[in-house]
Formats: sequence, C-alpha cells, structure tokens
Amino acid sequence: MNTANSITDPARDDHEWSPDSWRDRVATQQPAYPDAEALSSVLSQMAKLPPLVTSWEVETLKSQLAEATRGERFLLQGGDCSESFADCESNSITSKLKILLQMSLVLAQGGRRPVVRVGRMAGQYAKPRSTDTEVCDGETLPSYRGDMINGVGRNLAERTPDPQRLLRAYERSALTLNFIRSLTYGGFADLHHPENWDLGFMTGSPRAGNYSRQVHAIAESLRLVETLSGQPIPEITRTEFFTSHEGLHLAYEQAQTRTVPRRTGCYDLSTHFPWIGERTRALDGAHIEFFRGIANPIAVKLGPTATAEEALALTEMLNPLNEPGRLTFIVRFGAARVEQRLPALVGPIRRKGRQVLWCCDPMHGNTETTADGVKTRRFSNVLGELETSFRILRDCGAHLGGVHFELTGENVTECLGGASGLTEADLARDYRSQVDPRLNYEQSMELALHLAHLMANGRH
Ligand code: PEP
Ligand code: CO
Repeated sequence: MNTANSITDPARDDHEWSPDSWRDRVATQQPAYPDAEALSSVLSQMAKLPPLVTSWEVETLKSQLAEATRGERFLLQGGDCSESFADCESNSITSKLKILLQMSLVLAQGGRRPVVRVGRMAGQYAKPRSTDTEVCDGETLPSYRGDMINGVGRNLAERTPDPQRLLRAYERSALTLNFIRSLTYGGFADLHHPENWDLGFMTGSPRAGNYSRQVHAIAESLRLVETLSGQPIPEITRTEFFTSHEGLHLAYEQAQTRTVPRRTGCYDLSTHFPWIGERTRALDGAHIEFFRGIANPIAVKLGPTATAEEALALTEMLNPLNEPGRLTFIVRFGAARVEQRLPALVGPIRRKGRQVLWCCDPMHGNTETTADGVKTRRFSNVLGELETSFRILRDCGAHLGGVHFELTGENVTECLGGASGLTEADLARDYRSQVDPRLNYEQSMELALHLAHLMANGRH
C-alpha cells in the first residue's frame, strides 16, 4: 500500500483508498504479461514521466461538467472505438478534431448553451474483449486488446502482451495531445475564418445548406461586434478541448496517478475524463475501487442489465459527497430497449437527489452483424435511441446532458444509412475499423443537426 497517497473517505468506513488498493480486488479484462519484471520496470519508468494533462485542466472540466449536470452546458464526447498507433498522424487527428468542433457549433446553436468538447482521443488504446482467446487459422491466440497491449496481427508474437507498448501508448498520447493543443490554441478553430469550418462529404444531407449559412452568419456577427466595440475578441480564436478514454488497464492508469502541489487528493493524469466500461463496472471489482479514489470527473457506462440498485450504489461509492460534475452515467441500452430500461434508472436516481450527468451513447447497444459477418450499426437506430433518450429524460424531469459517439472525420463506410443511404453492399468499400463501426463525417454531422433541432424545439 502506498500510504503517502492514502485517503480516508468520510462516507465510507470500511477501508482506505490508495492508488494501488485496486490490487486487492478482482481486476477483470487485464492482460496476462509473460514477464512480470519487464512490466514492473515499464511501470516505474511511467510513474516518473511527466503527466499528460494537468490538475487545473481536470478541475476546469469538472466544473464545466457540473454546469452540464445543471443544464447550463452540453457534453459532446466522441472519437474512435479504439485508436491505433498507426493512425497517430496529422490527417486522422485534424479530421476528428474538425468534426467534433463542427458538431459542437451546431449543438451550441441548437441548445443555446456552450458545449464541452471531449475526444475519445490521446489514450483510447485498450479494449475489453468478450473472450480471452480466439482461434486464428487453427491456432489459439490471445485476443487483440488494443495497441496499448498487443498487436492486431494474427500470430503469437503479435498477440503476446508486451509492456513496452504501454510506453508507446503514453508517447502516442503525448504526441496527439501536443498536436491538439497547438491546433486549438493556434487558430485552427478560429470562427473568424468560416472557410476552416466548411463542410466536407455532405452530399446527401438536406440540412447542409443551413449549417453553412449559420457559420457565415456567426463570422459576420463576430466582425460586427468587434467593429462596434472597437476590440477584437481573442478568446474566439482559441478553443477548449479535453480528452477521455476507458480506464481499463489499471496498472497503466495507476502509473500516471499522483498528488500535485497545493491540491488534495490524487489525480489520474493520463487523461482528463476516464470512464469505466460496461464490462468492468462490478461494484466489488478493482475498477470501481481505483476510480472511487481519483479526483477526476469520471463516467460509467450502463447497459441493459444495469439495475436501479446498482446505479444508486455506484453514485454512493463513486460520488459520496454528491458533487455535480463528478459522475456521468453514459447509458447505452440500444434503440429496442431504451424505452423500457432508461426510466427505471432515472426515476430512483432523481428521487434520491443524486447528482448525475446523463449522457447517451447510442452506439454500443445498436451493434449488429450482417449476413456476411460484418459488424455494423444502423443510423436509424442510433438516431432513434438518441431521440427516445432525449424525450424520456425530459419526461422524467431530468435532461439529456451529453452524447457519446464513435465517429471519425473521414468518409468511411462502417455504419448503414444516413443521408447518403449507405447499404450493406457499401460497407466493403471503405471499412477500416479493427473494432466497432464508426459514424462517418456525414453521418456524424447529420446526427448533430438532428439533435440541435431537438434541443431547439425542446427548450423551455
Ligand atoms: C466502448 O466504448 O468502446 C465500449 C467497449 O463500450 P461499452 O463498455 O459500453 O461496451
Ligand atoms: Co466501441
């Protein structure tokens, strides 16, 4: 136990938390490394490396999420299902940033409130799997668990977990973050230049014209305000952008968890906003233990098996002080089940007065496999779950405070439908994801435009 960093939680009298107290619990979905010494040498190197994010950025995000919990902001979270080391290159990063910025502008306009932008980026390198092994050409191999752990290649050398990959993941995250920070502070998102906000690949969307008019109108208004006040508005040239990933690999997260001068508590500084996945949210498991002690804002994914008792227990264990902004529930039931499952959770949480930001992930409950064995998602189901969640939360006296998408800024063909009407035959054309299918540029914008419309009409 690392007693220097121990905290005693006033709401719990059972045991003390420390960055390694999760090790006394069952940690599911962790890789089996063949060489324990090689792993611990990497982890001690990582513990000395500088943090990827800072505690003040983390605190800023937490206060913005508190505003979103109160309905004064909206959370937009999105990116790849899993980042890959090979995709750590400028086009892939700029296109993801661009689509998220454009979506955020549309949502801010529709919802008349600022949008907190959070990428599934700069660290989304570990994946939970339903089986530990898979058979490839007659050979049983460890499953691919994300580039942080092993390689996707179908041979034993690639699939054997390699601790050096943890360092590569840390470095790739740092490279990605460095580029994102330069872009967002350097004018990439400057609204004075509507040409940077122009739409790509929006051939099929009837709403695209509206969007372009909006962007040009914003640039015009900015110039007018600057002319009238005789002052430039420099803030508009910079944009805030935060990072998030599934905090799956606990030894990696622990290595970046530390105290910082003049603040109490321990921050996981591998990312601003880590989340607990649907498969690792067992109340007595290691992930809950680790997350309950870190000072970051955190999220938990809740799928169709989640009960109201579990949800309430999670709020008590992860947010005993009932702070707004500390805890987000990312609900992912699927279009077919949301109507039945969501009210059963929202009602009891509301009645107990627990502070939760409700965020809808309309992706993970809507995955299906085509007759040819291709994993996909239908745009109509994604939109359907989003619309139903929006309505249910409003009818329950709560509100949809955020959305969580798997998307890319490129013109991939992984999800069906949308304004261009992608069919199963189109999937083969440009299917790149090694894991879950992502919305492409046009499908993502289309969703943002729909949601903005809902927000504009559902305002009170
Ligand atoms: C994911 O976000 O990629 C994921 C695995 O989600 P979930 O934990 O909700 O299944
Ligand atoms: Co996924």
